[in-house]
Amino acid sequence: MMQKMLEIADEIVFAKTGKHLDDLQQAIIRGTLQGKRYIDIAAENNFAEKHVKDAGRKLWKILSDILEENISKSNLKATFEKIYTYNSPDSDVIQANFNSNYFNSINFCTTPYPDGIIRRSQHEQQVQAREDLNEAPRRENIYGRMDELEALEKEILKTESPLVTLLGAGGIGKTTLAVKLVAAIKSKFDFIIWRSLSTLPTLEETITNIVDFISHPETTDRNNLDLLKHYLRKYRCLIIIDDVQTIFMEGKLPGTYKSGYENYGSWFKNLGEVSHRSCLLLLSREEPRETALLSNCFSSRLSGLGVCARKILKEKGLSGQKQWDRLIEIYKGNPLYLKIVAKAIEDLFSGEVNDFLNYSQSFLIHDIYLILKEQLQRLSPSEINLIQLLAEQNKTVSLTELKKVKSVDLVRDVESLKRRSLLETQSLNGEIWFHLDPLVKEFAKVQENDV
Ligand SMILES: Nc1ncnc2c1ncn2[C@@H]1O[C@H](COP(=O)(O)OP(=O)(O)O)[C@@H](O)[C@H]1O
Ligand SMILES: [Mg+2]
Repeated sequence: MMQKMLEIADEIVFAKTGKHLDDLQQAIIRGTLQGKRYIDIAAENNFAEKHVKDAGRKLWKILSDILEENISKSNLKATFEKIYTYNSPDSDVIQANFNSNYFNSINFCTTPYPDGIIRRSQHEQQVQAREDLNEAPRRENIYGRMDELEALEKEILKTESPLVTLLGAGGIGKTTLAVKLVAAIKSKFDFIIWRSLSTLPTLEETITNIVDFISHPETTDRNNLDLLKHYLRKYRCLIIIDDVQTIFMEGKLPGTYKSGYENYGSWFKNLGEVSHRSCLLLLSREEPRETALLSNCFSSRLSGLGVCARKILKEKGLSGQKQWDRLIEIYKGNPLYLKIVAKAIEDLFSGEVNDFLNYSQSFLIHDIYLILKEQLQRLSPSEINLIQLLAEQNKTVSLTELKKVKSVDLVRDVESLKRRSLLETQSLNGEIWFHLDPLVKEFAKVQENDV
């Protein structure tokens, strides 16, 4: 309930001001809902009491303006509880009981997309966005990612980039972030459509499906590709295509289309080139070649969660806090890996991270091994060869050293592995150094021993 209330607060503030709550504002709301005093909130968050009080006063002012009701530290909890109850699906509260102004203009709900909450007041009424989010997953807790969220919002809303890619390793949080993004910005669009390519639909199927949603039951002689272009000009649409990597081939360089799917590439490119009012957001582990070359495609790559991942470990109730950062480092802040490993630590080491780090034979626990296996199956033989060479070394390898053992296709394979988030390079003292993902290194060693 606390998380939901925070989300509601964040979303109403964002919808009105275009800015998310910062960490201090979140701490003030959380603390206030828990009945804490400013002095306690200040101490817990390492701020001076005065600073927290000032920030609190500003926050109550913002909320009061938005909700058109006087909000203060003393009535925040009661007000939010009213909002929460009012929106609960099984609530039988009658609207007339809460006759405040804001209930006339705002409709709160507890669907998986609480951001649908803002229904515009009469004077700023817009066309209500029509959304098809059936293929999007349920919204889950999300930690961190504020900077990434803001960068994406800016690109999509301010710069109005026609094509945006969100790239990153499996489990890093692309889908989760996109769900949050959609929730935050959907009020700015006429149509929101989420499609996944995981079932390998052809381009024709995908386009027909999107056109049917936008236009039904309109009939026309024009072909669907042209019709969709027409709609993307006429309306402001946000189309999210998830799991784009599924249409790329295994065993080839990243971004090589499976046979019969090459036309997706031309479609992506075309939408990046022709003028329209809409945005196509692609989520993928591998970057499509066409988008990599387009100047007006905004491309962002997600890396690990860093210290924010501690919240996942906390949520899972692990102990041994001093070693949490070490655990996050081993799993490179990948939230999926951390969720899997947290479950294993809970089951096998009673939740004690120290014991896991000291006594576990391997960090490549089975479920993570399976995910990596699926990911590494996608590599070309030449990329596998490079991984094996790097895994054999017990130290960080430099470019000069590597050139001696692998002369063919070295640059190409390094680039590919970087694009797959499996390899990092660092420039130091005029030399380039390679850092292979430690789990990939362990994986390569296990494979070698199995042969
Ligand atoms: N920022 C985050 N905070 C907490 N959990 C997250 C975060 N990002 C992702 N997760 C969790 O990690 C798992 C994988 O996330 P997902 O978005 O499916 O990754 P991807 O789409 O990149 O493969 C999910 O269980 C999700 O709830
Ligand atoms: Mg995903």
